[in-house]
Amino acid sequence: MVNCEVGWRFTIHNLPFTTRRSIPSEPTVNILSPETIRQHLEQTRGLVDGELDRILPPAEEYPPSIHKAMRYSVFAGGKRLRPTLCLEAGRLFTGDEKILLRVGSALELIHTYSLIHDDLPALDNDDLRRGKPTSHVVFGEATAILAGDALLTLAFETIAGAGDGASDRTLRVIHELAHAIGTIRGMVGGQVVDLETTNSSGDSARLEYIHSAKTGAFMRAALRSGAILTPADQDDLARVTAYGEKIGLAFQIADDLLDVEGSQAELGKTIGKDEQQHKATYPALHGIEASKRIASRLVEEACAALEPYGARAQVLQGIAHYIVDRRQ
Ligand code: IPE
Ligand code: IPE
Ligand code: MG
Ligand code: MG
Ligand code: MG
Repeated sequence: MVNCEVGWRFTIHNLPFTTRRSIPSEPTVNILSPETIRQHLEQTRGLVDGELDRILPPAEEYPPSIHKAMRYSVFAGGKRLRPTLCLEAGRLFTGDEKILLRVGSALELIHTYSLIHDDLPALDNDDLRRGKPTSHVVFGEATAILAGDALLTLAFETIAGAGDGASDRTLRVIHELAHAIGTIRGMVGGQVVDLETTNSSGDSARLEYIHSAKTGAFMRAALRSGAILTPADQDDLARVTAYGEKIGLAFQIADDLLDVEGSQAELGKTIGKDEQQHKATYPALHGIEASKRIASRLVEEACAALEPYGARAQVLQGIAHYIVDRRQ
């Protein structure tokens, strides 16, 4: 990965939004430091974890085997990035914090389902996730499959019941998310093509499809969901969508790079798996340096998309940088 400090200074001097005022009433933008962003993420993680504890059935609830497995994977760790993106997109347009937190936390249930299934022997066959043995290693394959199913289902139950019950906005969010994790340029579609592609059979268009679909679509939907729950208009949604598309792809490129250059202790995942399994990845197809350049460019483009919001977009812009500079 790009050295954090060097990467950050580079960013400060090159991003156009650092000194401009795009909307006259907005204050001049300052770049938030990586440390400030980390603290912000940590704080949001606390809020999200509290909400997840309220959403998930108690471990002893009958039948306890499934509830234990659901809680095990959700609370094994995790950056809570998708809830944070949902919350921050909502905050950009002063959305209702309570509803944003509930919907954002439901996104973490969907994300955790995707990780449990991604790790199954029939998919990536991983035995380490979030620094702990994977669900199927601890609970067996059948329970792991069902825990994933249960988390996915609970997420939609939670969103449907968020706020005062089903409103037009909640229905739009459900539609948005269901599409983003489905088969048409969504997570499942991306996972299918990921499994059907090896680095020798992939080209750059196919690779971009895999990454944008398996990872990017859900991140973009997390952001759009936050915005949909507020009075954001079509132009706002278009800007948030552009930001989401760029950071979603950048996030998966960074994930590929971390599989090559990261540390198992920091990542909590087995390193070097992609090469071992001949996965189609950005480093495999483009090389490490070019992959870093592509990811940095995507981050710059993502930040530029939010420029009209001036200082209000600082956190999301800081998160975009965090996504490629992270070690976890
Ligand atoms: C890992 O996502 C799976 C991908 C989409 C690459 P994260 O890196 O956000 O995983 P956690 O939630 O922090 O464990
Ligand atoms: C998984 O991508 C994306 C998901 C939909 C979960 P990876 O297979 O690269 O994710 P990791 O590296 O196992 O977290
Ligand atoms: Mg995978
Ligand atoms: Mg995997
Ligand atoms: Mg990976």
